[in-house]
Amino acid sequence: MSTLKGKVALITGGNSGIGYSAAKKLKEEGATVIITGRSQERVSLASKELGVKGIVADVSDLSAISTAVNQIENEFERIDILFVNAGVFIPMPVGQNSEEGVNTLIDINFKGAVFTIEKFLPILKDGGSIINLSSVNAYTGMPNTAVYGATKAALNAYTRAAATELAPRKIRINVVNPGPIATPIFSKTGMSEEQLKGMGDMMQNRIPLKRYGKPEEIAEMVAFLASDKALFITGSEFNVDGGLNINPVFAI
Ligand SMILES: NC(=O)c1ccc[n+]([C@@H]2O[C@H](COP(=O)([O-])OP(=O)(O)OC[C@H]3O[C@@H](n4cnc5c(N)ncnc54)[C@H](OP(=O)(O)O)[C@@H]3O)[C@@H](O)[C@H]2O)c1
Repeated sequence: MSTLKGKVALITGGNSGIGYSAAKKLKEEGATVIITGRSQERVSLASKELGVKGIVADVSDLSAISTAVNQIENEFERIDILFVNAGVFIPMPVGQNSEEGVNTLIDINFKGAVFTIEKFLPILKDGGSIINLSSVNAYTGMPNTAVYGATKAALNAYTRAAATELAPRKIRINVVNPGPIATPIFSKTGMSEEQLKGMGDMMQNRIPLKRYGKPEEIAEMVAFLASDKALFITGSEFNVDGGLNINPVFAI
């Protein structure tokens, strides 16, 4: 398959989970792929496995994003696809939200996403595609996700206005809202095996399709939005969530 032949794609947080799967998929579709991540070790390992370029850049550090932009401009001149995927999940109950937790969620999930876009815009080719990785938590009232969900809702609001402003350059910007996807994100929260299993069982029960999604299923949507098949789509959101957003409360 070669729907992305000749395109250069940058994926933030591409060393794990959804970003890793997207890197694999976009490469299969013919794109030249660059991934970023926080740790040299994880980025090197993933870029070697995937056969793509890896750059260490923490999205919460604006100067690190600028350095990555310069590096990519020097080597590739421009990008065509920007997958704004890097993010963290920190569950916190209302009444116990810590300043550190709130700052980290905002710095990475919202501010990091916004400045990734702002700083890559000068080298994003006219007609390019930006895909923002949000979450169904932007809309659900799932306990312990008030601030996490707020960072994703903020990103969705940014995307809608940005779509209008970027349209004159024919740059499309869209959002993917995944439901629960089987990635390492949950084990990075510090929750115990028992808590993770309890949360997993609870979530799968609420999903009409009764399972977690696979990162590859998000990568398919990303590849579609990145491609010329989606040339008339901008400012839109796509739930890939096994029906979770329907949120069935009871059965009759
Ligand atoms: N999995 C789900 O159920 C789910 C559902 C809805 C939305 N999402 C969203 O999907 C995105 C990807 O998550 P995932 O599930 O694939 O989790 P993951 O496997 O933990 O991957 C997250 C990626 O983001 C990177 N990252 C985190 N903070 C970063 C920073 N400050 N700078 C650069 N890279 C950073 C991580 O690198 P490190 O290796 O350094 O941590 C990792 O490569 C996130 O935005 C998440 O909020 C996930």
